[in-house]
Amino acid sequence: MSRIPLPYNPKVMDLFQHPKNLGKMEDATVVAVAGNPACGDMITFYLKIDEAKQIIEKASFESYGCAANIATSSIVTEMVKCLTLEKAWNEITWKKVTEEIGGLPNVKFHCGVLAVGALKRAIRQYFKEKGVAPPAWLPNEHTFEEKQALEEEELAKTLSKRLKPEAEKK
Ligand code: FES
Repeated sequence: MSRIPLPYNPKVMDLFQHPKNLGKMEDATVVAVAGNPACGDMITFYLKIDEAKQIIEKASFESYGCAANIATSSIVTEMVKCLTLEKAWNEITWKKVTEEIGGLPNVKFHCGVLAVGALKRAIRQYFKEKGVAPPAWLPNEHTFEEKQALEEEELAKTLSKRLKPEAEKK
C-alpha cells in the first residue's frame, strides 16, 4: 500500500529540494544541536556572530529531519541574517516561521518548532560559552520551542532505552 503524500505547499517543496545555507559552517561562533539521532529528528544549527555588534552575520544548518524540518530550518537561516541576537530571539517564533513558509500540514508543526528550538538554543549557548551574564532580554525560563526540543530528546532517550537489549540497559 502506498503512502499518501503530505500536502506541502510549493515553497516548502522548493526549499526542501533546494535548501539554502545547508551544511557545516567552519567558522561558526556557536553551534547547537536539537533533537536526537535515536529518532532521526535532529538538527545542527551554526551561527556566525559579529560579537561587537551582537549581530548574526550568517547561519547554516544540517538536518536529519523530514522535508518540513529541512525547509523550515532553511528559512530560519535566511530570516536571522543581519538581525541582532535580541531581535532573532524575540521575533523568530515557530508561528512566524510557519507563516513565512506559507503554512505546514498540522502534523508537521513540530518540525518547524524543532528548527526554531535549535536557533534559540544556539543563542542561549553563545552566552553560556562566553561565560558572561545573559542579557536582560534572555529569560531563564526555556521558550516553548526549546521545551519541545527537550521533550523530543527525552522521548528519544526513553525509546532507545526500551529498544535496547536488557543487558545493555544496566
Ligand atoms: S523533524 Fe520530525 S517529523 Fe519532521
